Amino acid sequence: MSALENHTWSHRLDEVDLEELSRLYLLAPLGDKPPEALATVFGNSRYLCFVHAGDVLVGAGRVLADGADCAYIADVAVHPEHQGHGLGSGIIRKLVELAAGHKKIILYAAPGTEAFYRGLGFRHMNTAMAIWSDPQRAVDIGLLRPED
Ligand SMILES: CC(C)(COP(=O)(O)OP(=O)(O)OC[C@H]1O[C@@H](n2cnc3c(N)ncnc32)[C@H](O)[C@@H]1OP(=O)(O)O)[C@@H](O)C(=O)NCCC(=O)NCCS
Repeated sequence: MSALENHTWSHRLDEVDLEELSRLYLLAPLGDKPPEALATVFGNSRYLCFVHAGDVLVGAGRVLADGADCAYIADVAVHPEHQGHGLGSGIIRKLVELAAGHKKIILYAAPGTEAFYRGLGFRHMNTAMAIWSDPQRAVDIGLLRPED
C-alpha cells in the first residue's frame, strides 16, 4: 500500500476545520490566512481538495474556475511533516483532474517550487501579469518583477 492510500481525501468545505486549515498554511509555510478569509476564498472556489491523515489535516488546495475557459489553482500546501511523500503531487493531479475540460489551468508558483510544477506538466507563461494589492511585498518575496 502506498503512503497516499492511508489518507482520506475530501472535496467539501464542511469537511474541514477552518482554524486547522489556517494553521496548515502557517506551518507549510504559505502565509497568514485567517479562517474567515479562508471561508470566503474556499467558499467561492469551484473545486476543493483536503487530505487528512487520521484526524490531522495534512494537505489542501483549491481551484477557481469558470466552467469552460479558465481555471486557477491556488493555496496548495502540505504539512511539513508530510512533505516529500508525493502528497503535493497528488493534490495537484486531483485538482487538474477536477478542472479537466478548461482551456487553460493556471497557477503561479511560490519562488523555488517551479520545478515541482514543471514536473506536473505546467509550462512557463510568457506574458502573465498581475495587479497586486501590496506590490512591494510581492516584489520582496520574489513573486513580482520590479518594473523599470
Ligand atoms: C510545494 C509542496 C506543495 C510540494 O508538496 P510535497 O508533498 O512535498 O511534494 P511531492 O512529495 O509530491 O514532490 C513531488 C516532486 O516535486 C519535488 N519537489 C517538492 N517540493 C519541491 C520544491 N519546493 N522545489 C522543487 N521540487 C520540489 C519533489 O522532490 C518530488 O520530486 P520527485 O518526484 O522527482 O521525487 C510542499 O512542499 C509545500 O506545501 N510547500 C510549502 C508551501 C508551498 O510552497 N506551496 C506551493 C505554493 S505555489
